[in-house]
Amino acid sequence: MQQTPQYVRDIPYPHHFQREVTPVWMTSVATALGFNGPDITQAYSWCELGCGQGLTALVTAAANPQGRFTAIDFNPQHIAHGRALASAADLSNLHFVEADFLTLATQAQELQPEYDFIVLNGVYSWISGAERVVIHRFIQQRLKPGGLLYLGYMCQPGMAFLAGLRSLLRVHTEHISGPITQRVHKALSLLERMAEAKAGFFVEHPQAVEYLRRARQHDPAYLVHELLNPHWDSLPVAQVMAELEADAGCYYVGSATPLENIDALSIPGNLLPLMESLNTTAERESFKDLARNQSERRDLYQKGRHPLDIERHRSRLCDQVITALPGAPSQGSLRFETRIGPLEGTADLFGPILKALAEGPQSFADLLRIPALQHQGDLINAAVQMLFWAGIAHPLLPGSVSIENCQRLNRVLCERSLSTEHYGYLAAAALGSGVEADDLYMTAVRVLQDYRNMTGSLLRETVQAVRRSHQKTLTDQDSQRLGMFEDEVRAAWQRMGVL
Ligand SMILES: C[S@@+](CC[C@H](N)C(=O)[O-])C[C@H]1O[C@@H](n2cnc3c(N)ncnc32)[C@H](O)[C@@H]1O
Repeated sequence: MQQTPQYVRDIPYPHHFQREVTPVWMTSVATALGFNGPDITQAYSWCELGCGQGLTALVTAAANPQGRFTAIDFNPQHIAHGRALASAADLSNLHFVEADFLTLATQAQELQPEYDFIVLNGVYSWISGAERVVIHRFIQQRLKPGGLLYLGYMCQPGMAFLAGLRSLLRVHTEHISGPITQRVHKALSLLERMAEAKAGFFVEHPQAVEYLRRARQHDPAYLVHELLNPHWDSLPVAQVMAELEADAGCYYVGSATPLENIDALSIPGNLLPLMESLNTTAERESFKDLARNQSERRDLYQKGRHPLDIERHRSRLCDQVITALPGAPSQGSLRFETRIGPLEGTADLFGPILKALAEGPQSFADLLRIPALQHQGDLINAAVQMLFWAGIAHPLLPGSVSIENCQRLNRVLCERSLSTEHYGYLAAAALGSGVEADDLYMTAVRVLQDYRNMTGSLLRETVQAVRRSHQKTLTDQDSQRLGMFEDEVRAAWQRMGVL
């Protein structure tokens, strides 16, 4: 008997961009870890399973002219939204497919025979075991040898508590009236009152109390998807690894969150000696999840095993060019806020790298030549990955870039952000990725798209007039932030092909 997917359909998932699924990010992390990923300076193909309304696919396609992008989801509203934007921005390298995973195999004509990248973010934990099996088969059949898989999912042990909350939440929302977004809030109120009254579950699981505290800050549509789906599992990493190896021929490369690949910085120091006796990747990653009480994993896998030898590893690293992002410090030490507490990035290591990046983009080979850092390739590699993770720097897209595609998409995103939508990201041609842009910055970019040289009070007044015509205000704080935009962001975004 054919099963039907049971995932929430009546309310669209909020717009979201995930930098870790871009080809430039995935290959950069794979290279840093010594794996031979696809060559993104040549034509390649990329596929997202469960693309939501398509923002990640749209931004990534606009910023990567070498790629052919396929974005799949079974929600007709999601696909209609993605197609409307792709058409408005005239993106010819992105194809949206309306299909559910269970019957995807029957839609072969809509797909490419094989992909260099397959990505799933926020999908794998919310579907049934049968759907996961179908996805394994898809990856087995359609990910090229050497291709990279990104898998972002809720994991054990840090998210296990959510099962305890979801059960009452789901059953209670079925028995109260009103639109689903209101019902989820009403059901959360009941749980909040239980937590205040020290119900046993909340006493045993303080994380659940913290989760409830933060839940209110989320878009209600997000909460409906997160909490009310019939299927939800927090998965143990060892099980995911074993299934991907056996069913899809994929092997663990590392985390797409670079910090998590650096044990000395992401595991409490007193636990590190205990990890030394563990030899298999599954044991080590399970140990790390316990050590960090990990709740979510964003992992990279590769079809087959394709390590780089020492020479090729070094030459791939040296080819990489790194740019500072707006607001990056130009010297000194850094403080990184991590899951296991604050960490200091020492001035000895980070100071010279920041100074060099403040002068302009640097290749990894340039960084190796900095006198204070000579012969410290491994440390520079780790430091650069930390800068990427912290949003201080980003790899530049190798090969050709398309400023026109990004500018067309950004115009559409900015215009729609003035009315009803909240996108929060713009495409950056030089990065092959997106940059975060709030509502105010979106308005400023929209104005600058028509008046490229406008500055100062004239820019501020025009932004104010545009916002007013869309029933939006410009507060004193916004005016100050526009000043910051002009000082720190605008020129960088022009160089990166955002505007
Ligand atoms: C939580 S959202 C994540 C969206 C997007 N990947 C992101 O990170 O923002 C999960 C998405 O998977 C889609 N989905 C769930 N089950 C599906 C199925 N069986 N077939 C196709 N799409 C499915 C949903 O419609 C939804 O858009």
